[in-house]
Amino acid sequence: MTGFPLEAIEKAPVAELRKLQLQRLQWSLHHAYENVPHYRRKFDAAGVKPEDCRTLADLPKFPFTTKADLRETYPFGMFAVPMDKVVRIHASSGTTGKPTVVGYTAKDIDTWTHVMARSIRAAGAEPGMKVHVAYGYGLFTGGLGAHYGAERLGLAVIPLGGGMTERQVQLIADFKPEIIMVTPSYMLAIADEMERQGLDPKQSSLKIGIFGAEPWTHEMRKQIEARTSLAAIDLYGLSEVMGPGVAQECIETKDGLTIWEDHFLPEIVDPETGEPMPEGEQGELVFTSLTKEALPIIRYRTRDLTRLMPGTARSMRRMEKITGRSDDMLIIRGVNVFPSQIEELILKQPELAPHYVLELSKDGPLDHLAVLVEMTPESDGWPEARKSTAAQTLQHNIKSLIGVSTDVRVVPISAIERSIGKAKRVIDKRPKA
Ligand code: DLL
Repeated sequence: MTGFPLEAIEKAPVAELRKLQLQRLQWSLHHAYENVPHYRRKFDAAGVKPEDCRTLADLPKFPFTTKADLRETYPFGMFAVPMDKVVRIHASSGTTGKPTVVGYTAKDIDTWTHVMARSIRAAGAEPGMKVHVAYGYGLFTGGLGAHYGAERLGLAVIPLGGGMTERQVQLIADFKPEIIMVTPSYMLAIADEMERQGLDPKQSSLKIGIFGAEPWTHEMRKQIEARTSLAAIDLYGLSEVMGPGVAQECIETKDGLTIWEDHFLPEIVDPETGEPMPEGEQGELVFTSLTKEALPIIRYRTRDLTRLMPGTARSMRRMEKITGRSDDMLIIRGVNVFPSQIEELILKQPELAPHYVLELSKDGPLDHLAVLVEMTPESDGWPEARKSTAAQTLQHNIKSLIGVSTDVRVVPISAIERSIGKAKRVIDKRPKA
């Protein structure tokens, strides 16, 4: 029994939740249409008015919002309130060009704090625990989102931010936090550093890891849990929709992430055509904000691929662990490949470390994919012949299970750059078309 009781809405009958969603959706559509000229233009062009939303099933009549809309209205053109109502601005580093800028009113910050507190509680937090936050602070939403949520629960927050890994390890040893909030790739770097300092990650005070901001596989979870004393729990979010705290895995079921549907309404669409997918099928996740004031977001194309499932630990629907993005999908000689598929195969080989990058280049007209991977410290001293057998096994598994030919290269320990935030898994060296 947790020391933090659930909110009534987390266990409410689904019909009650749907009713609340409809009221809020109608408000959100009106708010966007009336206060953001860009939304008004798009709704008008599509021939829809907020009044056309009579049931939740009417939502697909409304146009999508994409990163391009935010770029076009850079920096503040999508804000629906005057600047004297905005109390915070964040931005996410776009992979190309200008960053995506998002704003929050005081009420938005309160809502965000609320859903983050709910997330941390769902991950198993108990009164009296200390939370080590190693998500970056600053324009990235990870650090401050985690921070406010943990404080709202009354937990003691240790606001490290990203980087200075030696110090992270020292303060974990000294302050003995029970919870760590960090990207899964940086957690691995912290565990490596513990070992380098002669500390056993299994003996650390940490009990719960709240991991997100980048895709990570079930295999990665197993490996982190085997190597440390942590229950590794998934946290999802994106700046355009709020930041972290859009969906969270519950520790009692660990069966996908519960979407906080009273604030964020999910849809799944076909990534190619944009058509709604039948319930339960895999496709691109789309979100509509139901309560946000400063930046109402209508049918935002996340590019994240998943499927929706009915609620278990809560009334709200769940989403499956994100398997990849429709735009980090690599197409190698006609085969669609997600970095996460290769990660799973790497982690199935105990002699290989979870430190890898995928390097894309051109071999004449053809795409060429190299997988650079490190051995674990225990296997790094193996004779070359044994290492090359390990590489061949991985190469064979990728070919037979995913269907692409790769060139697997074992590289020395530390040759793969360690991330302190989101890991960069793909290096594209192909000449730009
Ligand atoms: O990464 C917010 C966040 C911070 C989430 C801390 C969780 C923890 P952005 O920088 O806008 O926001 O990046 C959002 O990151 O569309 C996904 O592609 C990816 N992502 C976030 N969480 C997960 C996750 C933050 N748990 C983008 N699993 C999203 C897989 C994730 N991918």
